[in-house]
Amino acid sequence: MRSHQHLYKWTFFADPEQHRLQRRHAAERFAAHTRHDLSRYVAGRLPRLPFPDNDFDLVLSSHLLFSYARDFDYDFHRRALIELMRVTHGELRVFPLVPIGAVSRYPRLDALLADLRTHAIDGRIIDVDYEFQVGGNEMLVCRSITDRSAP
Ligand SMILES: C[S@@+](CC[C@H](N)C(=O)[O-])C[C@H]1O[C@@H](n2cnc3c(N)ncnc32)[C@H](O)[C@@H]1O
Repeated sequence: MRSHQHLYKWTFFADPEQHRLQRRHAAERFAAHTRHDLSRYVAGRLPRLPFPDNDFDLVLSSHLLFSYARDFDYDFHRRALIELMRVTHGELRVFPLVPIGAVSRYPRLDALLADLRTHAIDGRIIDVDYEFQVGGNEMLVCRSITDRSAP
């Protein structure tokens, strides 16, 4: 990150050192909480999740899909998104849409959204206030097309 500072907006985090400290603090809080109450955590690995259908109101996935576009191929992304949608009866939100090292959206996002529609999943891209990666101020919001409460 220090050697690629131009790929990041230094507004939420002042500089790489403050970013490092805040991430370390978050990691320590996470580790402390797992020691306090491990029952709140369930280990799983996409593209399969150990949850029944429609189990969650809201599913969040951050800095995995799209971020590691070089490590996970298109089919992994498609299968992972379908699986994440399987476990919610509400909404899936995925952030960010910019792969690590890039400054624009995952290149096959349009094809992926068209693919998801054939699985009755409507994916919309919305702007968000937070932007750390340059160009990374968009979020994917998915809902089931059969969900008539969707706007
Ligand atoms: C960069 S971290 C992001 C962590 C957190 N979501 C965040 O935004 O700060 C990527 C996370 O994805 C997890 N991960 C890697 N492969 C995965 C997979 N196949 N299924 C689910 N999680 C995976 C890693 O263990 C790691 O915790």
